[in-house]
Amino acid sequence: MNSELYKINNVRLSDDGSCVTIIDQTKLPGRTEYLTLKTPEDFFEAIYELKVRGAPAIGICAAFGVFCLARTIDASDYESFIEKFDEYRRYLDSSRPTAVNLSWALNRMRSVAERGRDKPVTEILTLLEAECREIQAEDASMCRAISEYGFSLMKEGDGILTHCNAGPLATSSYGTALGPLLLARERGLNFRVFADETRPLLQGARLTAYELARAGIDVTLICDNMASLVMKNGWIQACFVGCDRVAANGDAANKIGTSGVAILAAHYGIPFYVLGPTSTIDMNCGTGDDIEIELRAPDEIKVKFYEQPMAPEEVKCYNPAFDVTDNSLITGIVTERGICRAPYEKSLGELFGK
Ligand code: MRU
Repeated sequence: MNSELYKINNVRLSDDGSCVTIIDQTKLPGRTEYLTLKTPEDFFEAIYELKVRGAPAIGICAAFGVFCLARTIDASDYESFIEKFDEYRRYLDSSRPTAVNLSWALNRMRSVAERGRDKPVTEILTLLEAECREIQAEDASMCRAISEYGFSLMKEGDGILTHCNAGPLATSSYGTALGPLLLARERGLNFRVFADETRPLLQGARLTAYELARAGIDVTLICDNMASLVMKNGWIQACFVGCDRVAANGDAANKIGTSGVAILAAHYGIPFYVLGPTSTIDMNCGTGDDIEIELRAPDEIKVKFYEQPMAPEEVKCYNPAFDVTDNSLITGIVTERGICRAPYEKSLGELFGK
């Protein structure tokens, strides 16, 4: 077991609060490179280009980012401070639309700034720093609790299929969908994992296979279109996936291809679990239809990762980064507060005291 895995500090606010260091996830697994983010453009591009990615991680990075930028605001009164703060906050919030953790974390920072309206700017900054560090600390404990609940769903000899990457790199420690697997490895359970490579950006091949192999887990990489076959072979006893935004009715947005996995799992009678912190549940979205799906550049399909372009230059491409899995296909939504089951309006509503 490689305990170094848990020491990976994928998003770190410097001690003096002036900048943020991230692991550049686009360089993994070949190179472990760190990037320092300081300017609004640094933060925006790191999130947009998936140098930092995974719903909780981008929320944490944006919260740290808006704090670093707030420190640079030259304002003596609250009104001019908050005007500039909001400009930075909206800019970072516009970097990616689907994962709710981004706006959730930025809104938390906004509320803290608002609560400090009668205080001097220096005191507001102290409150903001505490809040963004707290967002990261909370995420670590939420992931740990999710891992425990997810672990309770596993048994000796299981094969688990996962899609995209919802491990430590995407969060602040264990991860969500990969958390139970890391815990199971620590506890000596015998199991194996099939990781979808996750076209077009290969988060499964580059990041999930990397994280699980480093942890000493028996992981087999498959192309996305092989999931049906491994299920038919009887090799999969459960699917564990992360999420970017869960609607109030349980419809769950996650990396493109997730809903296909859920449909296959239903066909083969395999339980399909979505794992995520309550910060990924958006009770303001009634259903998956209310979730904005990010559309990304055609070259991610045609060119990226190929030595030469793999499609005619003029061909049209459709490149949605996420899809929504219908709640009817989800066996359970595993949160830090327990496992929610259908009907999700009721079980998720209860989590939020509704
Ligand atoms: O586009 P990405 O790589 O940010 O997509 C990430 C995912 O879809 C993850 O499954 C999700 O954010 C959960 S991370 C715990």
